[in-house]
Amino acid sequence: MRLKSKIGGFLVICIIIAKAGSVHAQVNANTALDKKIEQLIKKMTLKEKIAMLHGNALFSSAGVKRLGIPELTCDDGPLGVREEVNRFDWAPAKWTTDSATFFPNGSAMAATWNPALTYRYGEAIGQEALARKKNIILAPAFNICRTPLCGRTYEYYSEDPFLNAQLAVSSVKGIQSQHVAACIKHFAVNNQETYRDSINAVVDERALREIYLPAFKAAVQQGNAYSLMSAYNEVNGQHCSENEFLLIKVLKNEWGFKGLVMSDWGGTHSTINAAKNGLDLEMGSPGPYNKWYFADPLYAAVNAGKVDEKTIDEKVRRILWVMYHTSLSGNKSKGEINTPAHSKTVYDIACESIVLLKNQRNILPLNISTIKSIAVIGDNATHKFATGGFGAGVKARYEITALQGLKSRLGKSVNIQFAQGYKANYLTTYTAQQKEDANKSDPQLINQAVALAKKSDVAMLFIGSNRDYESEGTDRKNLKLPFGEQELVNAVTAVNPNTIVVVIGGAPYDLNEIKKNNHTIVWSWFNGSEGGNALADVLIGKVNPSGKLPFTFPSSLEDSPAHALHTFPGKNLTAIYKEGILVGYRWFDTKKIEPLYCFGYGLSYTNFGYSSLKTNKKNYKAGENIVAGLTLKNTGKYAGKDIIQLYVSKLNSKAGEPEKVLKAFKKVSVTPGNAEQVSLNFNSNDLAYFDDKQHKWIVEPGEYKILVGESSRDIRQTAVINVN
Ligand code: BGC
Repeated sequence: MRLKSKIGGFLVICIIIAKAGSVHAQVNANTALDKKIEQLIKKMTLKEKIAMLHGNALFSSAGVKRLGIPELTCDDGPLGVREEVNRFDWAPAKWTTDSATFFPNGSAMAATWNPALTYRYGEAIGQEALARKKNIILAPAFNICRTPLCGRTYEYYSEDPFLNAQLAVSSVKGIQSQHVAACIKHFAVNNQETYRDSINAVVDERALREIYLPAFKAAVQQGNAYSLMSAYNEVNGQHCSENEFLLIKVLKNEWGFKGLVMSDWGGTHSTINAAKNGLDLEMGSPGPYNKWYFADPLYAAVNAGKVDEKTIDEKVRRILWVMYHTSLSGNKSKGEINTPAHSKTVYDIACESIVLLKNQRNILPLNISTIKSIAVIGDNATHKFATGGFGAGVKARYEITALQGLKSRLGKSVNIQFAQGYKANYLTTYTAQQKEDANKSDPQLINQAVALAKKSDVAMLFIGSNRDYESEGTDRKNLKLPFGEQELVNAVTAVNPNTIVVVIGGAPYDLNEIKKNNHTIVWSWFNGSEGGNALADVLIGKVNPSGKLPFTFPSSLEDSPAHALHTFPGKNLTAIYKEGILVGYRWFDTKKIEPLYCFGYGLSYTNFGYSSLKTNKKNYKAGENIVAGLTLKNTGKYAGKDIIQLYVSKLNSKAGEPEKVLKAFKKVSVTPGNAEQVSLNFNSNDLAYFDDKQHKWIVEPGEYKILVGESSRDIRQTAVINVN
């Protein structure tokens, strides 16, 4: 025993010395880099410095050639590296080398609840950005899904700040492992597209700190994100690109952000305020670039003594710091694009993102030996999702559709026929009347679909939305399925008892009727180049679905907080976030409103049993680690992955805590009949709430209930702990 502890002690001392050594080395390295940057800045004229602070083309800002400082280049994600556009306008540059891997959309990635996969996403898109010679990839995007209608929900992750943070950190780390800067966006509270340039989001500090900022904080402090994009909107009366509270007080001073803040495109509104309040780089689209706020007007402001040159130096310092971690870093590789490894990453993410919503008759996985014919019905079986709408897309090297996926898996043994079922003609620029017309069903297409369904063993409906219907720049008007799809579903279901409904979308929809009338429902996403293969493999059971919803599907729009409180899209360009911290399931649970599908919901082809939940202690002090251990057993027939979700509920809270809050989760694989011991950790400090009056985090002392389950409403095990 004594020997053991001595060895242990020796080891600890070694580790401390080694750590101290590496900290020291890092300090030296930083000082050397800082010195290098200072020396460069000293050699620069004011004109040269200012030229670095604003775009000189759509996706770049100037360098200083005579000093060996290159241009800073960036491009959109997050779906993949955007196709090259002309230097000065948005028309495609018609390159032949800019097709790229199309990655699953943000909410798909969130549905995997698997940070190891978002890390791989980051690595892959980082490599593709390198191959396209971009220093910064404008991703990831992870604004909170406050309203299910937000046009960019598909790009974002979740309604929950903790899930958001885990995925943001891992994707940033993955991207930056390639010496490409992530640009986390859109900071902050960019939760609607309606009036996005001018809406003032009025949010109390508690909601900001607990809901809207945590993922950004984690991406900065744990992910070391090199750059950040300010959002278009205002927060509490100041545009985000000149918001002193957000950019100076919180981001730079409290969080210690060392990187650069760039504006969203055309999202800068002043010279002096923006310069003083933390914006480093003005980006946008049309020239003349010398007229921009951070061009000649900034030069004039410095000369007039209205902006200190030190403020300019600070911005240049940040930009150079990012360059020395990216384009000027000696370690970077050339990158690679469209590799089989990237396709495999897409496939793995897509497989783990698909959510089984209902499997009442266990029709899934398909028993292929008994099926001779499948009617594949619906435009989404052949639709591609890499582009569409107003937002950034990808010129995908390839994209496997659902129909192609099924044919490649089953084409030899099963007769697969396709009927379009509905027309998906939709443009964001349509008038209200055109949009209404686009949502009408097409009787002729329905008749063809019904005829095909009648003569087939199985009817598979592929419905939902697409990238035109869910788009940057607009919010949806309601949750209704578009293009008259409900009528198609009803007609096909009426003639084929083996109807499977697959909904493809990036945000919640009204599935009330389908949930009531259909026995088999699968949810899929804009799932990237390998989307169709992944979907087919889930349907045939090669892959057991393990995705869980990253947001609540409300039964009706009016149930969700922003709509129940009539605060969307706001009045007089002001949206008052009256729901405070009660966003997503926090609202539904606290207000006891039954959702259509709750946060964290998703079935598997197998079943999981939970038992023996135990915490490592009963009483905890501040800063102590809480470890919850339990046994997870696969009680069904198929190997599968379960996402164990740990929520905490403060008993008798005086601080207005929500009913429950997600504090930890883990995705675990278990083979049939076997059990795994699983432990989930969090810190007692993670239980803190933000006190608006004292402006600090406080842990309410007392009892907390730990709830562990398969979703936010399927709690299997509980335990009570005490925190002092
Ligand atoms: C979007 C950003 C995007 C930028 C450049 C803006 O409209 O909000 O997410 O990165 O355009 O394309």
